[in-house]
Amino acid sequence: MTALKARVVEVVRETADAHSLVLEPVEGDRERFAYRPGQFLTVRVPAEGGWAARCYSLCSSPLTGDRPKVTVKRVAGGLGSNWICDNVTAGDVLEVLRPAGTFTPPSLDEDLLLVAGGSGITPVMSILKSCLAAGSAKVALLYANRDERSVIFADELRELTERHPDRLTVVHLLESVQGLPTAAAVRSVAGPYAGRPAYVCGPEIFMDLVSGTLTGLGAKVHAERFFSLEGDPFEQPGDAPDQGEAENGDAGEIEVEMDGETRTVPWRRSERLLDALLRGGVDAPFSCREGSCSACACVALEGEVTLDANTVLDEQDLADGLILACQARPVTDRLKITYDG
Ligand code: FES
Repeated sequence: MTALKARVVEVVRETADAHSLVLEPVEGDRERFAYRPGQFLTVRVPAEGGWAARCYSLCSSPLTGDRPKVTVKRVAGGLGSNWICDNVTAGDVLEVLRPAGTFTPPSLDEDLLLVAGGSGITPVMSILKSCLAAGSAKVALLYANRDERSVIFADELRELTERHPDRLTVVHLLESVQGLPTAAAVRSVAGPYAGRPAYVCGPEIFMDLVSGTLTGLGAKVHAERFFSLEGDPFEQPGDAPDQGEAENGDAGEIEVEMDGETRTVPWRRSERLLDALLRGGVDAPFSCREGSCSACACVALEGEVTLDANTVLDEQDLADGLILACQARPVTDRLKITYDG
């Protein structure tokens, strides 16, 4: 079974239209719930005639001992966000996929520039809290919102700034005060920190503005983009290849490193890497299954694949050996991949 179950232990009303769900993985699912700062959860939500799935970032830190927490902001007409804000209460049990995503800094000791717009603060908050709690990095946060009442985590940020005055700098940009964010405003506030890796999350138009401006200043930008999932990734992967395919010699194998263990599983040319891994009993992470989210990303150490679709990995990612398991088909008979490190 690929899905995990998590009980909602508390619902926190962060602002008028943003709710946080504090979660407790059910017994037996705790280990598979491990996550890295900046990762997200895929939550199963009811939809007309069946189920759908939506992704929400974890705003908690895995390094502070706090329970996992996701924050959900209502989107006009949004299926998942409105269902969660209207219906989910303490005691409910949600079906979720393993935490996933690549919006996570490799080191908590390297100084960072974080930029968030609106509810884009959620993964950024997880990174920020993790750096302050378990690393030595200095963090600058540029946080844009419509007005003061829309600022999610305002109290928590104030408290963290007071506790870490030498390590955390928070600059708010409020549309009600400074107007809509402009390239000039981003340059002026973030410019002094442009030498640091930048992690950016927020509405599409805001991320385009910030990413373009920071890239122009020479910053290395990591952007977290969310999208609506088309299918239901909670459905089990398709059937294994039929006997004919399995026996015609057109088979390869995958050596996979995960959670410090190495395993080998068979791989038919007709199936995608993720399906072969799940069928082989490997607890591989995934979310969209459409090549759009990078939840399934792993590193190819040996061998070669082609990707059916990829709207998320850039040239540098590919040059670094990253591949999308949900879209990869074999070119070579043997492939060695790792999910560790
Ligand atoms: S699961 Fe989303 S890109 Fe593969």
